[in-house]
Amino acid sequence: MRSSSHVLPLGVLTALLLSQVCSGIKWLALSHAPASLHINQTQHCKLLPGMVSSQAQLCRSNLELMQTIIQAAREVKKTCQKTFADMRWNCSSIDIPGDAPKYRPDLDRGTREAAFVYALSAATISHTIARACTSGDLRLCTCGPIPAQILEPGYRWGGCADNLHYGLIMGSKFSDAPMKMKRAGSHCQQTDASTQQRSRETSKQLVFLDAKVQVLREALVMKCKCHGVSGSCSIRTCWRGLQDLREIAMDLKTKYLSATKVVHRPTGTRKQLVPKDIDIRPVRENELVYLQSSPDFCTRNDKQGSIGTQDRQCNKTSVGSDSCDLMCCGRGYNPYTEKLVERCHCKYHWCCYVTCKNDGQ
Ligand SMILES: *[C@@H]1O[C@H](CO)[C@@H](O)[C@H](O)[C@H]1NC(C)=O
Ligand SMILES: *[C@@H]1O[C@H](CO)[C@@H](O)[C@H](O)[C@H]1NC(C)=O
Ligand SMILES: *[C@@H]1O[C@H](CO)[C@@H](O)[C@H](O)[C@H]1NC(C)=O
Repeated sequence: MRSSSHVLPLGVLTALLLSQVCSGIKWLALSHAPASLHINQTQHCKLLPGMVSSQAQLCRSNLELMQTIIQAAREVKKTCQKTFADMRWNCSSIDIPGDAPKYRPDLDRGTREAAFVYALSAATISHTIARACTSGDLRLCTCGPIPAQILEPGYRWGGCADNLHYGLIMGSKFSDAPMKMKRAGSHCQQTDASTQQRSRETSKQLVFLDAKVQVLREALVMKCKCHGVSGSCSIRTCWRGLQDLREIAMDLKTKYLSATKVVHRPTGTRKQLVPKDIDIRPVRENELVYLQSSPDFCTRNDKQGSIGTQDRQCNKTSVGSDSCDLMCCGRGYNPYTEKLVERCHCKYHWCCYVTCKNDGQ
């Protein structure tokens, strides 16, 4: 008999449908909003790319929030690409155009890459809103509540806590809006009959756990500041603050690397996700799981969403994923040396010019 601890019953965990995943990241097209656009009139909502009607409605009733959400979309793209700069899959497909959303096979299937991007997007929108509350950019929210927990002597609550509660409510309201529409599946752009067929087959399948709440709870840490005469630190004021997005993304990357492959197993009327390899330890709530294996991303394969690693830079001395062996998949590589000349020892001469030595001379 199979151990029940390997089974992830619905209801305990929030699982997502495949169709919800691609509609849940569509708002990332907002990163293409014109930089000069200052959203202070409801007509401006029409100028924003990639939104479904319920999101446009949210835009009209929450104008003040939109600048923060656009900033979050840009942040997701930047953070994802930075976090994966040393990997074969480098998050290039996250650049979702607003006008013609094209089919992105690496993100529109239940892959571990999709699981990462979805979790990062969901975490980022709530994180950015929570931080905007703290910094006073939003008039609708303020600092988070003071925790009920009693602190040790010498410590007291103070400062301004990041308002994760408000961030989660407003972030989910916006990014989950397309999923609440009846035909959520229509937001996954499908290009041909075979992918449509595949989509129908898998649309009933659960792709992965909605890890965002868990991910952000873990990222809420106690931060303290010293007070007292001449830095004696006799009293500390503390608040609950979110870790930086970069750290959250690195944690998610670790989860990505150890993600568990699961299969969908309907048992009677219940739907269950079970790890494919039954011998491994049970999947925990804060882990990433995926249904479809990814290609190795070594060579170009448009159907599978791989652009390959040709022309990528590798690091000859690294032993990690950016090493030349791993990045170039054993195909060999062209070494080159680059001589950088930097200006240094600059001197200002009266009047008015500057002379510098060039480094390395
Ligand atoms: C909207 O913002 C722009 C740019 O900051 C400003 O010039 C304009 O007066 C604002 N309009 C309203 C209605 O507040
Ligand atoms: C990702 O890799 C491709 C080549 O495989 C390259 O063209 C692109 O510039 C890279 N993107 C980033 C953000 O590094
Ligand atoms: C290459 O890898 C080495 C060893 O990990 C590291 O010290 C160095 O900074 C890397 N170089 C670049 C250009 O990333």
